[in-house]
Amino acid sequence: MSIKNEQNLDPEDWDLMTSLGRDMVTEMMGFLRDVGDRPVWKAIPDETKRFLNEDIPSAGTPAEEIYRQFKEHILPYAKGNIHPRFWAWVQGTGTPLGMLADMLASGMNSNVTIGEQSAVYVDRQVVDWCRQMMSMPDTTSGMLLSGGSMANTTALLVARNTMLPDVREKGIWGLKARPVMYCSTETHGCVVKAAEAIGIGTEGLRKISVHADFTIDIKKLEDQIKTDLAGGLRPFCIVGNVGTVNTGAIDDLSALTSLRDKYRLWLHLDGAFGALAKLVPEYAGKLKPIETADSVAFDLHKWMYMPYEVGCVLIARKPDHRNSFAGSPNYLLHHERGLASGPESLNNYGLELSRGFKALKVWMSLKEHGMVKYAGQIEKNILQARYLGRLIELSPLLEPLAGIPLNIVCFRYNDGSEDNRLNAVNKEIVMTLQERGIASPSSTVINGIYAIRVAITNHRSRYLDFDELVRYVLEIGDSARQKVP
Ligand SMILES: Cc1ncc(COP(=O)(O)O)c(C=O)c1O
Repeated sequence: MSIKNEQNLDPEDWDLMTSLGRDMVTEMMGFLRDVGDRPVWKAIPDETKRFLNEDIPSAGTPAEEIYRQFKEHILPYAKGNIHPRFWAWVQGTGTPLGMLADMLASGMNSNVTIGEQSAVYVDRQVVDWCRQMMSMPDTTSGMLLSGGSMANTTALLVARNTMLPDVREKGIWGLKARPVMYCSTETHGCVVKAAEAIGIGTEGLRKISVHADFTIDIKKLEDQIKTDLAGGLRPFCIVGNVGTVNTGAIDDLSALTSLRDKYRLWLHLDGAFGALAKLVPEYAGKLKPIETADSVAFDLHKWMYMPYEVGCVLIARKPDHRNSFAGSPNYLLHHERGLASGPESLNNYGLELSRGFKALKVWMSLKEHGMVKYAGQIEKNILQARYLGRLIELSPLLEPLAGIPLNIVCFRYNDGSEDNRLNAVNKEIVMTLQERGIASPSSTVINGIYAIRVAITNHRSRYLDFDELVRYVLEIGDSARQKVP
């Protein structure tokens, strides 16, 4: 019998592929080094959009040509969150070694779930480092996930499965009383999605109003818990904000902890970016209640500047975590020796079975810089936010729209016109800043007013970048007010 086709997907010429790889590394390093010299963002030309809408190829293309296409159509039109003047949404910057780590992880192509393999041990070590960052107890377990959304969802599943007995078996329908949970009107939308996904529903998620500083109104929260209890409902979880997405507001975590204890609830903290401020001495006291929370979600791709994606969930008591997900399918049997003799399968601690080796970039980055340097970067971003706040205060044509409790600054250009007109002018400012490649803030609406929003999770930002931002906001504002009717 003749073997007709034993081709595989490896390169025919390894030397050529190696040299291409070298070019890629060299050029990407240059790209990162000179990022500040380029515009933050460029509009995507129609030609590129057409190119990126072509049908699936049936035949192969040489790797050098594919890389050329990448450089022509993909690389120039990135979002820009590696740039020193990118402050939109809450997006981290990445690092050169993080980029290389992702390449090494892809080369190993580890599926980090099961097995006696180094990657599982790295993953476990990194989760424990995350626990140490938050000073949570030794009983804590955790999981690296794609980001804050999945970390919050995972934590809320554990909260539900721990606090509501038999829910794994019987589902929500088996419960005698309708479960309800609590957050504030400023809580991130991923918590709303999580409430829907875990069967609580948006009606079961009580959104408590906030004070003028955008922190949850503790009295209203307690009143709602009492009302729900009196109505025969089953309160089971409070979600606290450690840095809201709009303004960076930090709920009164001590008060939330007391309510948790008083009403025997689960306290989950969404610290997607804000939890990392715990590393900064000024915030250590305020964020100390993280240490006694039942669960915490935070992202390493935001304020630890790791390349996308990597978030983390920590659960204070490992059995709660395990009992929420563990199973024993016969295709995942543990053995005494060999490949299947490794640590317990990680799919006993989450929804995912296959998982990438995202731990490697965290492991390498934390070793490269050490925690002291990370704490310094986070503190720098907080001080930069305050610096921008002062520039805004000093300018008669700029108006702060919220306090600056952390690293987010919300403000607007205000020439004294009425709000509708100012909303249009400020939207014009944001779009023009982006289109001209000057800077990328994003926007939000604060008390019905359109705000320019600057969220600083960027290790490349310099103080002069904020001087530039203010200069251009004023310049564009002056011309925008002529344009807007
Ligand atoms: C406070 C907060 N929670 C959750 C998330 C969701 O995180 P991710 O985008 O990593 O899923 C974000 C994202 O910005 C956030 O700011």
